[in-house]
Amino acid sequence: MNNLVICYFSASGVTKKVAEKIRQKTNGDLFEIEPINVYTKEDLDWTNKESRSTKEMNNRSYRPKVKNKIEEIGKYNKVVIGFPVWWYTAPAIVNTFIEDNNFEDKEIYVFVTSGGSGVDRCLKDLKNTYQNLNFVDGRRIKNEEDIDNFTKLLK
Ligand SMILES: Cc1cc2nc3c(=O)[nH]c(=O)nc-3n(C[C@H](O)[C@H](O)[C@H](O)COP(=O)(O)O)c2cc1C
Repeated sequence: MNNLVICYFSASGVTKKVAEKIRQKTNGDLFEIEPINVYTKEDLDWTNKESRSTKEMNNRSYRPKVKNKIEEIGKYNKVVIGFPVWWYTAPAIVNTFIEDNNFEDKEIYVFVTSGGSGVDRCLKDLKNTYQNLNFVDGRRIKNEEDIDNFTKLLK
């Protein structure tokens, strides 16, 4: 299945592991959404009102810059976008990524990892923000079984 690209943002490695497993099971291409300014531990401190992540998530029009774009995007018709839930929704850098690449004719599948929050709010927010895009489905992934069920969606 080489028409699939599995894109992910991962600040502390959990989402990255899941993305790699999805790749193994689907043979899609892997694309890491890389921030120009990497998030440090301090940046990720959600208990601190002044931390970078808190400030970014409080300003919904802020767009942290991404280093890279998908090359030859035209060869894909299915796109997976995976990310950690931040403040019940997608990290702002996921918005940058979606706006940097043209997904208009793609089927988009979302997965999230989290401490407990679900995918529904994330998917709803993305659908509202990008009404021109086709978000087909979304899942929260917490174990191997969830990975298997998610990859079945992509068939
Ligand atoms: C800034 C920040 C906000 C977070 N907000 C939530 C949240 O609203 N709900 C939740 O269940 N987990 C939340 N988490 C936990 C992450 O979603 C979870 O640890 C995720 O698996 C991390 O993925 P990563 O290692 O790929 O970055 C938050 C983590 C960070 C750093």
